[in-house]
Amino acid sequence: MKQTYKCKLRLKTEIAPGIFDYVVEAPEIAAEAKTGQFLHINCGGRTSLRRPISICDFDEGFVRFAFQVKGEGTEKLSRLDPGDVIDIMGPLGNGFTVNEGERAVIIGGGIGVFPLLRLARYHQDAPVFLGFRTKELICMEDDFNEANDNVVICTDDGSYGYNGFAVAAMGEYLMEHEVDMIYCCGPTPMLKTVKQIAEYRRIPCQISLEQRMGCGIGACLTCVCETKGEGMAKYKQVCSAGPVFDSREVIL
Ligand SMILES: Cc1cc2nc3c(=O)[nH]c(=O)nc-3n(C[C@H](O)[C@H](O)[C@H](O)COP(=O)(O)OP(=O)(O)OC[C@H]3O[C@@H](n4cnc5c(N)ncnc54)[C@H](O)[C@@H]3O)c2cc1C
Ligand code: FES
Repeated sequence: MKQTYKCKLRLKTEIAPGIFDYVVEAPEIAAEAKTGQFLHINCGGRTSLRRPISICDFDEGFVRFAFQVKGEGTEKLSRLDPGDVIDIMGPLGNGFTVNEGERAVIIGGGIGVFPLLRLARYHQDAPVFLGFRTKELICMEDDFNEANDNVVICTDDGSYGYNGFAVAAMGEYLMEHEVDMIYCCGPTPMLKTVKQIAEYRRIPCQISLEQRMGCGIGACLTCVCETKGEGMAKYKQVCSAGPVFDSREVIL
């Protein structure tokens, strides 16, 4: 059984309407965490099942995550104040596999941008395409700009930055550049398009999947996704085999 920790909320910021950025004191989790892994959070109240939230950043005993209020669990979580204690299991899952010296492209959308911050920092010169529906929903622009020299903010409605989808901006970049790896986290339509582009161009690609979860540790089947495996290997648990997969492995 993966360990749970009582983590004190240190910093709380509403970074966009209904989107909260939390920093918690969690030395054990910070010591083990890898980019792309997630936390399984007990949000309290009637929501007995934990809620999965990606690790955004970690350093010297602190872990940062950000979440959008969607339903009862995240709503409860958003009502906490600095000093309150959160019951967190983690770090869980398999994160991104990062290779030194590779020519990378990083692409994310909406709340999917959060687990990409550390990747953007590691691949400081790689282009980072971040898509949001509209200007009001842009998150962590300053953090990404601090981490990376080539951040392109895209808005679907053209209200800020590149006018259009992040995948379109990435497509333009790929027309002129050779790339060794694409990293992606975002809504399913984005994952599907990025996967198609990567496969068509024969570029290795890692995508982070989102599924509803139960246990978070591979003990139930709530989170299965379809893969190209045969027989029993056709379905894999996103919580334990993922959430990051080789895009060629999964069927979206
Ligand atoms: C590995 C992983 C990492 C995640 N990281 C983040 C993150 O960094 N920030 C963030 O804001 N959210 C993240 N999510 C999504 C987050 O877990 C859900 O938004 C949350 O569980 C909703 O809980 P709730 O009780 O507020 O809403 P519920 O009442 O449970 O659901 C509200 C709505 O959200 C939908 N929903 C619930 N769970 C998911 C899910 N896993 N994927 C898609 N839709 C869902 C439901 O269908 C429903 O429409 C992540 C999910 C996974 C699997
Ligand atoms: S959530 Fe239980 S197996 Fe993944």
